[in-house]
Amino acid sequence: MVQRGMVALVGAGPGDPELLTVRAMRLLESAEVVLHDNLISEEVLALAPGNATRVNVGKRCGDVKDRGLQQHEIHELFLEYSKRGKRIIRLKCGDPFIFGRGGEELEFLAYHGIDVEVVPGITTALGAAASCQMPLTQRDHGGNNVRFMVGQTRAKKVPDVDWAELAQSSSKQTVVIYMGMKMLDDICTCLLSNKADPQTPMTLVENATLPNQRMVSGTISTLAADGRANRMGENGPVIVFLGHTAAFPQHLEKISGGKPRACLKMALGTGPSLRTVCFNWSCCRYANNSLLQRVVQKLGRRLLLVAVVLALGLGVRRFPCVERWKNWLRQFLICRSPAQHAAMSAVMIGAMAPPKAAKQMSLLQPTQTCG
Ligand SMILES: C[S@@+](CC[C@H](N)C(=O)[O-])C[C@H]1O[C@@H](n2cnc3c(N)ncnc32)[C@H](O)[C@@H]1O
Repeated sequence: MVQRGMVALVGAGPGDPELLTVRAMRLLESAEVVLHDNLISEEVLALAPGNATRVNVGKRCGDVKDRGLQQHEIHELFLEYSKRGKRIIRLKCGDPFIFGRGGEELEFLAYHGIDVEVVPGITTALGAAASCQMPLTQRDHGGNNVRFMVGQTRAKKVPDVDWAELAQSSSKQTVVIYMGMKMLDDICTCLLSNKADPQTPMTLVENATLPNQRMVSGTISTLAADGRANRMGENGPVIVFLGHTAAFPQHLEKISGGKPRACLKMALGTGPSLRTVCFNWSCCRYANNSLLQRVVQKLGRRLLLVAVVLALGLGVRRFPCVERWKNWLRQFLICRSPAQHAAMSAVMIGAMAPPKAAKQMSLLQPTQTCG
């Protein structure tokens, strides 16, 4: 649980509420203030208590039309709610440290001496790769390494990267470009003018992981026009994939005889929902154990042993053999090492064996073993 006046920077994942981490869910359940990005779903926000203050700080996952609050205004909110001793959750789309300004917020909070916990989220590259069945590394498809980059600078220009190097290596790695839709034409032009193979596959994914996810695939030479033709980016954020792995969904489709693979989801069973499971896990951790296990967990093994000894003590008057077990148990309890316990167990087995065997084993006296 986040302490009073403390902030948790929490990744909410790319969109599908089921991709929230258990830690994120539990922190939300104890939040007093939730400062959230624009695209966080109602289902996720509903996890916060009804009386928690929810502030939409308006960042629409990189949508330049909707800048929302300025970063310094978000910082002011941190200060204000922290001074009031509130438990604050800063809920960000994807992961806070992947183009999420998590570092800037950490700097501000550190400067003001405010404690912070960071909870990772599934970044869009991973969410989209999974829901489109597009592995980010696949050696026989040239995917030996992965690069995450932005497609535009704050000044709305293509980023200042080594385009010649990127163009040459684009067929040997997977490049995932965040916030790249607006500059897609320029990005493809930069790649081509730096001698990238025009046939290198590229894919756009809009609203990754959500029910309205759309995917458009092409090559460096076609994708900008394909994206425009399909009006990509008009109905949600878009992420761009470059490299041979970007054509993996089509490869799978071919293998499976033309059956589209993207967005397949296994139906959930009739078991308890994630929320119920987590509630059980945190509140009634022992709910599924047997009654005996629960008693053992609650009372502790030592108490249980005392109960057994008492029971044996009471039974000893009726059954003489219990006397032997009682002695053994008393010795067993004072043994210190596993070796002593093993030796005592051997003695006990001897004591329970038929009279002849027991006589032979009686040479080994319990007191000598554990002394
Ligand atoms: C400011 S960045 C935030 C990235 C986020 N922190 C993450 O880890 O995914 C915003 C960019 O992420 C991408 N993005 C975020 N959510 C997306 C989604 N559901 N589908 C496609 N792209 C998404 C888009 O490229 C968008 O322009």
